[in-house]
Amino acid sequence: MTKIDHKEARETLVKSLQETFPGEESDELGAAVGHWLQSPNHDVPFLSTSMRKHCCRLLQSSKPPKGVNKRVGEDHEYYQLLLPIDWSDIPFPPVETPKFKFIDLFAGIGGFRIAMQELGGKCVFSSEWDLPAKATYEANFGEVPYGDIRRIDETTIPDHDVLCAGFPCQPFSLAGVSARNSLNQASGFAHETQGTLFFDIMRIVKAKRPQCVFLENVKNLVGHDRGKTFAVIESSIRSLGYDFRYELIDASPLVPQKRVRCYMVCFRDTDRTFAFPKIEGAPLPLKSILEEQVDPSFTISERLWAGHQRRTRNNLERGTGFTAFCADIDKPANTIVARYGKDGKECLIPQSGKPPRMLTPRECARLQGFPEEFLIPVSKGQAYKQFGNSVAIPVIRKIARNIVELLPRRGT
Ligand SMILES: C[S@@+](CC[C@H](N)C(=O)[O-])C[C@H]1O[C@@H](n2cnc3c(N)ncnc32)[C@H](O)[C@@H]1O
Repeated sequence: MTKIDHKEARETLVKSLQETFPGEESDELGAAVGHWLQSPNHDVPFLSTSMRKHCCRLLQSSKPPKGVNKRVGEDHEYYQLLLPIDWSDIPFPPVETPKFKFIDLFAGIGGFRIAMQELGGKCVFSSEWDLPAKATYEANFGEVPYGDIRRIDETTIPDHDVLCAGFPCQPFSLAGVSARNSLNQASGFAHETQGTLFFDIMRIVKAKRPQCVFLENVKNLVGHDRGKTFAVIESSIRSLGYDFRYELIDASPLVPQKRVRCYMVCFRDTDRTFAFPKIEGAPLPLKSILEEQVDPSFTISERLWAGHQRRTRNNLERGTGFTAFCADIDKPANTIVARYGKDGKECLIPQSGKPPRMLTPRECARLQGFPEEFLIPVSKGQAYKQFGNSVAIPVIRKIARNIVELLPRRGT
């Protein structure tokens, strides 16, 4: 059977749907068709039944095979019969025999997805509104995420076992909060665009009742607004009948980066007691992930380096603010943040006889534990932002393993 390239299939279907259903299609049609190609036996948002039938007819002029039910383990068989799609150009194609289903909210570049797919999970819905992040996601997973989660009707999201979300942290992060305080702007839940996104997660949980909710955020979430923010998060989750466990975990025994994050795991049936994995051991050294040959364009200018040193000296005297040092490559890097690309002050690599250099995007990918085959199709600046926003995959992987063990076995 000749296979059809997934991008070509998506483009053909979108074009034909626009012609056949004028006025009915939405600006999310590309995401909708892409999701459907990965999970053809699911309803997906913004793709009506008649549109799906139209897609089936176009791709293979036969009806979907009868008698194939919708149990998770049989997705692959169904999909092979119906849609002979070629995913060979993407490094992380949909899993063939899924053990469970998950959704990827605030998906960024898919840090959660890599870990969950490795454990046999099938992603049945993803959402991310940043266009460059969507491009990286598509290049790696062959799926364009849906956009603004606030515009998604929660009842149209496919059923799933685990809801994953590293929801935006600016409203709660130390840097974000102090910047907003100094501008007299609201932080936390009162932050006008990003603060309420946690409640979008809650409306999905309420409608879809996944077995488990797996969240990640900055460590400052716990103490934000003297603990009130975190108390609201915990009580909102508990009020929906979920258990609530959290732990602050430093990633540095698994990746050479100091990155303490708050991980929250909430199971629907409170008799299944989740325990966080022990993540201990000596921190890894930054030198273990450095590239050998680095282009001279990563070396910062004499002028920038002199400016960094001057500002650092002044601020150290005042005891506040900006500090930039060369990293000790025998120790883990400082936390990589979205703004790293601006001046690199969080982590500069010393070089003899010249100013230090920035990390490369590939080194940032390694600091977050991304596999080497992960594609970086965007500009340097966007790549720094995307890896700075992302999760430390090895931590997610370890926690996810303990989650998956508690999910009911399928087909037994
Ligand atoms: C902390 S990052 C999560 C990164 C992700 N966990 C990863 O592994 O790359 C939060 C993401 O939420 C996205 N975001 C913010 N508001 C959104 C919204 N209303 N709808 C969809 N995505 C949104 C941001 O663009 C950002 O990429």
